[in-house]
Amino acid sequence: MVNVLVIYGSPRAKSDSAALARALLEQRPADAAVKEYNAYRMNARPCLGCGGCDRQVGCVQRDLDGFYRDFEAADYVVFASPVYNGGFPAPLKAILDRFQCYYALRFAHRVKPPIEKHRRAALVLTGGCEAEGGEQMTAALRQQCTVLNAELTAVVTVTGTDKRALSQADFAEAREAGAVLFREEGEKENA
Ligand SMILES: Cc1cc2nc3c(=O)[nH]c(=O)nc-3n(C[C@H](O)[C@H](O)[C@H](O)COP(=O)(O)O)c2cc1C
Repeated sequence: MVNVLVIYGSPRAKSDSAALARALLEQRPADAAVKEYNAYRMNARPCLGCGGCDRQVGCVQRDLDGFYRDFEAADYVVFASPVYNGGFPAPLKAILDRFQCYYALRFAHRVKPPIEKHRRAALVLTGGCEAEGGEQMTAALRQQCTVLNAELTAVVTVTGTDKRALSQADFAEAREAGAVLFREEGEKENA
């Protein structure tokens, strides 16, 4: 059995990024256990930059304890988010900042890797404008993945959603990304 953790970053009930993430998830293995979190319901406290995680192992704030456990157990992590002013919406950004305790584990406590389980990650982004490609968001998450023992394997970016509905091509792209994300080790790309 494999564990899939999904973190939704949209507040909208009819979220485009969530719809695409669900298409991506269609490709998951039959025995996958899926755990879903919505950043807007988690109300994660922002990182305080207090350095507490440099002195002790783990975050001094306890509100995400259960989430951290699920996150560390995941074989696959899917982030699905709209672009908000060029970045992640504040509730999701708070969670990403709270991964600072893994950075501290790696560099203050010298634990390598800071999370035992190696995992693959995917990012699904939707932006309302044509021009917004979420490049900085992708780059930032890719960088963060290095202390999360994660490999950002698949990225789906759909732009222009403020002027059009998601298309079949968008969903096909998400499914293709899912196929890449969940591809078995050693499986050939076009097999
Ligand atoms: C507060 C806010 C800020 C936004 N900022 C951007 C932006 O910087 N660039 C962009 O392309 N779209 C922006 N959008 C549009 C959303 O990214 C777009 O509607 C997205 O597809 C919504 O995804 P969702 O349905 O998953 O929430 C913004 C929307 C809101 C509400």
